[in-house]
Amino acid sequence: MFSKTLTIAALAAVSAAQIQLTPRAAPLPFNLTFVEGLAEFLGKMGFTSIATAVTLGMNSPGGLDFLTNIQGNSKTLLVPNNAAFATFNKAFPNSNNPSFVGDVLSYHLIDGIFNDSSAFSTAPDHTVARTALNDSASTQLEGGLSQAMVFSVEVEVIHILNQKTNATVTGSLSFQNLPIQIIDTVIDIPGNFSTAIGANNLTGASTVFSQVNLIVPIQAANGLTIFVPSDTAFANVQSTLTSLSASNLTAVQNAVSNHVINGTTIYSTQLGAISAVSIAGEPFTFASNSSGTFVTSGSTTASVLVADIVLSNGVMHIIDTVFLNTNANAAAAAAAFSSAVSVAATEAAVVPTAALAAVAITTTLSSSSLATTSTSASSHAVPTFPVVNALRAIAVLVGVYVGAAVLI
Ligand SMILES: *[C@@H]1O[C@H](CO)[C@@H](O)[C@H](O)[C@H]1NC(C)=O
Ligand SMILES: *[C@@H]1O[C@H](CO)[C@@H](O)[C@H](O)[C@H]1NC(C)=O
Ligand SMILES: *[C@@H]1O[C@H](CO)[C@@H](O)[C@H](O)[C@H]1NC(C)=O
Ligand SMILES: *[C@@H]1O[C@H](CO)[C@@H](O)[C@H](O)[C@H]1NC(C)=O
Ligand SMILES: *[C@@H]1O[C@H](CO)[C@@H](O)[C@H](O)[C@H]1NC(C)=O
Ligand SMILES: *[C@@H]1O[C@H](CO)[C@@H](O)[C@H](O)[C@H]1NC(C)=O
Ligand SMILES: *[C@@H]1O[C@H](CO)[C@@H](O)[C@H](O)[C@H]1NC(C)=O
Ligand SMILES: *[C@@H]1O[C@H](CO)[C@@H](O)[C@H](O)[C@H]1NC(C)=O
Repeated sequence: MFSKTLTIAALAAVSAAQIQLTPRAAPLPFNLTFVEGLAEFLGKMGFTSIATAVTLGMNSPGGLDFLTNIQGNSKTLLVPNNAAFATFNKAFPNSNNPSFVGDVLSYHLIDGIFNDSSAFSTAPDHTVARTALNDSASTQLEGGLSQAMVFSVEVEVIHILNQKTNATVTGSLSFQNLPIQIIDTVIDIPGNFSTAIGANNLTGASTVFSQVNLIVPIQAANGLTIFVPSDTAFANVQSTLTSLSASNLTAVQNAVSNHVINGTTIYSTQLGAISAVSIAGEPFTFASNSSGTFVTSGSTTASVLVADIVLSNGVMHIIDTVFLNTNANAAAAAAAFSSAVSVAATEAAVVPTAALAAVAITTTLSSSSLATTSTSASSHAVPTFPVVNALRAIAVLVGVYVGAAVLI
């Protein structure tokens, strides 16, 4: 629809003097001057592949969300470098699909000003921010909320925690009032529950959730929180579950259902701040102390091993113990769901997608609760100085464009 008005890929690759614009179809739903200026700036800084992606995805729902939101106040743009796009294009067969590319782009535009590592929580705490990704084909959160992204800082390096790929921030710039974080990986949009348990090798959960026929209802939900026991946790209760399956399948269904919250996506930053009832109607209680974050259902308490694995329609947290709570309360489950829906509707109406990110809420999880986050620090700890130095050199050369540049 707007292809005749923009030649962003070309813009990014050439100098300001060479830019030629084709006639514009007015009015555009986004600020062409700003987008052109941004593309030119990124091109001069060597980040040309994102401009190619914008050209490809701009007419899709996600691409339009990206372009219409990008000049909004309180946004931060994540820009994958060219090597990241080259890898992504090889790894993803649909990386030439405009709708997919548009969704990916909108997922790289974050609500909130995040201009350096101090704006993000330090591991094991997480910062959870909303993004511009709200294409209903790929995101199905409660109240039409847009998709979230999860960050954590380890040894002063900002990581984006994601189910398939870990991205690291390698440098930081700004264009006008837009902070830009350069990243080494294109962030794939979050997938569904089945994909996430597969990617995290949770074979016990895969088997048990299928056996009680929960995969399809989970897939259909708009907003949910799932506490997924690790394989070790399932192994520890295997004989109990096996004999219970034989004697009373309802009890097993209840126990598994007591791991799922319907209608509310509760990230680690909000565990304990929101009262929660499972789809079987049993309440959860949450606690955190210096040894971690704990979730209790019935008489079983589990520790959170990995928090904030983002799903297309919610979030999951891996826990170390299976809740063997076989109780159910249908009335409580229904009440919890309708209350969640009305809260989501209010949240979406009053404070739309910016709700989470503007404040960059942080957790109080202790270091042991997310051991995997902490222990992997060494592999990511060293900032990529060549990139930073290259950026700094370019910044000096084209100082007029980077008056506000910040290099980390
Ligand atoms: C569009 O962006 C340009 C460049 O950033 C800015 O000067 C102008 O005020 C913007 N126009 C609108 C309508 O926001
Ligand atoms: C996504 O967000 C944009 C901008 O905030 C809005 O115009 C659009 O209607 C939203 N789309 C959906 C599907 O919620
Ligand atoms: C989950 O997503 C994958 C990949 O897109 C898809 O193949 C699968 O059918 C989905 N699972 C469900 C239960 O919809
Ligand atoms: C899952 O298992 C595969 C194969 O063993 C491994 O390469 C991958 O790192 C594992 N993923 C996680 C999240 O443990
Ligand atoms: C969530 O609640 C809705 C409304 O009661 C229901 O239709 C849906 O099946 C529930 N989903 C799950 C996963 O329990
Ligand atoms: C099966 O389990 C359910 C849920 O715990 C319970 O209400 C029911 O009484 C049990 N049935 C038998 C025969 O034990
Ligand atoms: C933290 O809470 C858990 C669960 O209640 C408990 O088992 C653990 O002993 C507590 N740890 C500390 C250090 O208080
Ligand atoms: C991503 O990084 C986190 C924190 O550094 C780590 O816990 C996790 O294992 C990493 N995941 C992958 C797939 O590398």
